[in-house]
Amino acid sequence: MGFNMGPNLLLLMAMVATNILSLYHLSSTLQSPKPPTPQPVPDQLLHQLHTIRATINHLTRLQHTTTSNTPATSTTTTIKTSIPSDLLLYSQLSTIASSCQNHPDLLHKYMSYTPFALCPLDSDLAESLILRGCHPLPRRRCFSRTPPKPTSSLPENPFPSSLPDSGVIWNKYTCKSFDCLNRFNPNLGFHPAHEITKFMSYKSELDLPIPQLLQIAKAANSVLRLGLDIGGGTGTFAARMKLYNVTVVTTTMNLAAPYDEAVALRGLVPLHVPLQQRFPLFDGVVDLVRCGHAVNRWIPLTVMEFLFYDVDRVLRGGGYLWLDHFFSKGVDLDKVYAPLIGKLGYRKVKWATGLKTDTGGLKNGEVYLTALLQKPVSR
Ligand SMILES: *[C@@H]1O[C@H](CO)[C@@H](O)[C@H](O)[C@H]1NC(C)=O
Repeated sequence: MGFNMGPNLLLLMAMVATNILSLYHLSSTLQSPKPPTPQPVPDQLLHQLHTIRATINHLTRLQHTTTSNTPATSTTTTIKTSIPSDLLLYSQLSTIASSCQNHPDLLHKYMSYTPFALCPLDSDLAESLILRGCHPLPRRRCFSRTPPKPTSSLPENPFPSSLPDSGVIWNKYTCKSFDCLNRFNPNLGFHPAHEITKFMSYKSELDLPIPQLLQIAKAANSVLRLGLDIGGGTGTFAARMKLYNVTVVTTTMNLAAPYDEAVALRGLVPLHVPLQQRFPLFDGVVDLVRCGHAVNRWIPLTVMEFLFYDVDRVLRGGGYLWLDHFFSKGVDLDKVYAPLIGKLGYRKVKWATGLKTDTGGLKNGEVYLTALLQKPVSR
């Protein structure tokens, strides 16, 4: 120490001090025997949190390691001897995911909230950050909002006649009901009863009805119990598989409509993760991965390669990858995508292509690929 204390050390000390103060405040609030009535947040605390935030920004800009900016590690010198190192590792607070820094405007908006109160109504802002790779989100100290008048009569059946509007906070959407969404576009999947025929019929080679898929797996002595549906919209594939006692989780984003809520209202598991994110599943644990319409030529090639390798990571040996109506330009399918898929070294169980005959498809010379591929049992 002495007179040459650098600015970094000063910042660090300020940070440790304010963290300890806010921790003290938090713990004294927790220990208080009074029932938690909403209280105004003291100015001093807001000031402390502001200082912490500013300090984090400074430290990150100075490219310092973040290992010493949490209360958990600031006390490590005294407890090092008695606590296993793994535990210290697991209790590190990660303040900001690295991509968050690339969007300071959004991040600033997102982090401008009142701690210990209700979070702002800004799920769209969270969605924007997640889509830009900012995950996990750094906001940790407010209560997320729930719909004002939730219903207790939630459907047991994944194909109910309608979804309860009261299960959604509609503020951020143009539509204020599922009916409105269905009138706007009946193909978005928000009318579960209309979804019941999907994945069941064979109209062209591009279709792979679920009974046929199950038959293929059974004939290969490969059991299907767990699946991941990437970009699964309102969860219709998972809904249908549930009726066959297969558990499928669905990745879905709330792009202009409450897809995650809709999946959950059907009694299915929505995973709120974008296409570029590592799937929150362990290696080699699922029997089946389906890539729906969301996986297509609009995804940058590098991202798509990462995606396929992550699919490979979560699939067990002998598991299946189903590319369902993957679309690209005809020339790219042969030159780009087929070789990319080929790199995985999977066995082609089904490989069907056909022209994409809608307006966009005809204009861009697009084709569909539906492929069922089996991961090698061992490498
Ligand atoms: C799913 O499981 C239930 C309960 O075990 C059983 O009654 C039903 O027949 C199963 N359905 C299928 C399609 O295997």
